[in-house]
Amino acid sequence: MATTKISSSTFSLYVSVISLLSVAYAFSPVDHYLVNCGSHSAGTSDLDHRVFIGDASRFLTSTLTIQLESTDSKLTSPSPFYSTARAFDHPRITPEFHVVANGFLLLRNFRIPKTDNFPVIKEFVIPVASEELKIAIVPSGRSKFGFVNAIEVISAPQDLIADVAQLVDFEKNERVNGLLKNGFETVHRVNVGGFKVTPFNDSLWRTWVTDDDYLVSSDGSKEIHFGGRIMYQMGGASREVGPDNVYNTARVIKSSDDLIPNGNLTWLFQVEKGYSYMVRMHFCDIASVAAGMLYFNVYVNGNLAYENLDLSYMTNRLLASPFYADFLVDGDSSGNLVVSVGPSNMSLPRAVDAILNGVEIWKLNNSMGSFDGEVCSDFVWRSWRRAHAGVLLPLVAAVFLLLSVSVFLQWRRSGAVAWSRLPVDVSEADLKSGNHF
Ligand SMILES: *[C@@H]1O[C@H](CO)[C@@H](O)[C@H](O)[C@H]1NC(C)=O
Ligand SMILES: *[C@@H]1O[C@H](CO)[C@@H](O)[C@H](O)[C@H]1NC(C)=O
Ligand SMILES: *[C@@H]1O[C@H](CO)[C@@H](O)[C@H](O)[C@H]1NC(C)=O
Ligand SMILES: *[C@@H]1O[C@H](CO)[C@@H](O)[C@H](O)[C@H]1NC(C)=O
Repeated sequence: MATTKISSSTFSLYVSVISLLSVAYAFSPVDHYLVNCGSHSAGTSDLDHRVFIGDASRFLTSTLTIQLESTDSKLTSPSPFYSTARAFDHPRITPEFHVVANGFLLLRNFRIPKTDNFPVIKEFVIPVASEELKIAIVPSGRSKFGFVNAIEVISAPQDLIADVAQLVDFEKNERVNGLLKNGFETVHRVNVGGFKVTPFNDSLWRTWVTDDDYLVSSDGSKEIHFGGRIMYQMGGASREVGPDNVYNTARVIKSSDDLIPNGNLTWLFQVEKGYSYMVRMHFCDIASVAAGMLYFNVYVNGNLAYENLDLSYMTNRLLASPFYADFLVDGDSSGNLVVSVGPSNMSLPRAVDAILNGVEIWKLNNSMGSFDGEVCSDFVWRSWRRAHAGVLLPLVAAVFLLLSVSVFLQWRRSGAVAWSRLPVDVSEADLKSGNHF
């Protein structure tokens, strides 16, 4: 084994697979692979007590790769697996590489950004129609150095992403179907009005950051923390869609007297133009004293996405019951994506007049199946072979999935009704629909 000092640049991948098998009450993923790359160890636990298996014995299908191990005791790793990596070659130059997975180009000419945000984790949800998921790291151009510290492959819960969303732009506000054929890259995941939520407190091991860096106008707004129980309902958001720690905090606009505040709560997110984005807004009325008192408008990029939203109607008059809505938007030329909630014509004085608990933003792959430019994954493979005929093999990790044909069967089931309230009768619950207006 080659042991080399690696710099403090770290990189790991989180790939979630849409498998759509039936889910029991407590989520237990059909496939759940946690891979500690460059390690021989049978199991290394991370800070959240999850056990990552070394890739030397399983998963890796490439032969000409090396293992790197950090000898830098000062390396302040958040998790032990960041001190090992799988690479092609010793790091003489800056690593630069592509990452492809089952026909999707996840990253192209990727360099580890020089930031304090350590480690770098990239997260994707991709549909997988075969029993094998192959993730390949392909060095780009001049670089012969590409590496990865850890790979997590987890099958997505059935209700994580629905096949429908509401397309909102300047001209239209309409329902679109067929979302599940796309891949999704998480670009922002925010716990509004609350603390940072770490994988320890999230049933899908995600991180939700605070909204401080995104909030642009908050005049007269307040953060709300709720100590009671979050009332998850069948057919509504599940704990996998959003954990308690996201729904039990929010930011609200509230009128203290007879005057309804004149202003919105607005958050601004940077996105890359040229892609479509799915915006998920998480709501849970933890602020009203009674049902039927909260009405507000929801805007995406300044366009009215929903007028007079009445959360208690959506949740069958249950307070503190989570609800989410998915909107599809195009990243505009400014590279900004703006989300607002504000009072509506029906807002009441002496009541809460707008609320938001969380926001997630996913980038959709473009028509070439890429998240990173107008190039398809086949092109990356072809250029690699031309330049390196037989010399170096790309780093390929293959995991075998327990998905089988049910993937196709389940996808057909997904023509759900958008914008409907939660089913009153639990037996009507169709988890696939997500829950929408
Ligand atoms: C998990 O959530 C609880 C309750 O909100 C909090 O007290 C605790 O600090 C959190 N733990 C981590 C590791 O984030
Ligand atoms: C809230 O934002 C929308 C969209 O930008 C705007 O049309 C509306 O007038 C704003 N409402 C208030 C009260 O400022
Ligand atoms: C709500 O107010 C807007 C102007 O702010 C108006 O255009 C719209 O027609 C009103 N809607 C209702 C239902 O009164
Ligand atoms: C994303 O990729 C899939 C599979 O290649 C394709 O069917 C879909 O149309 C792509 N999405 C967009 C928005 O072009």
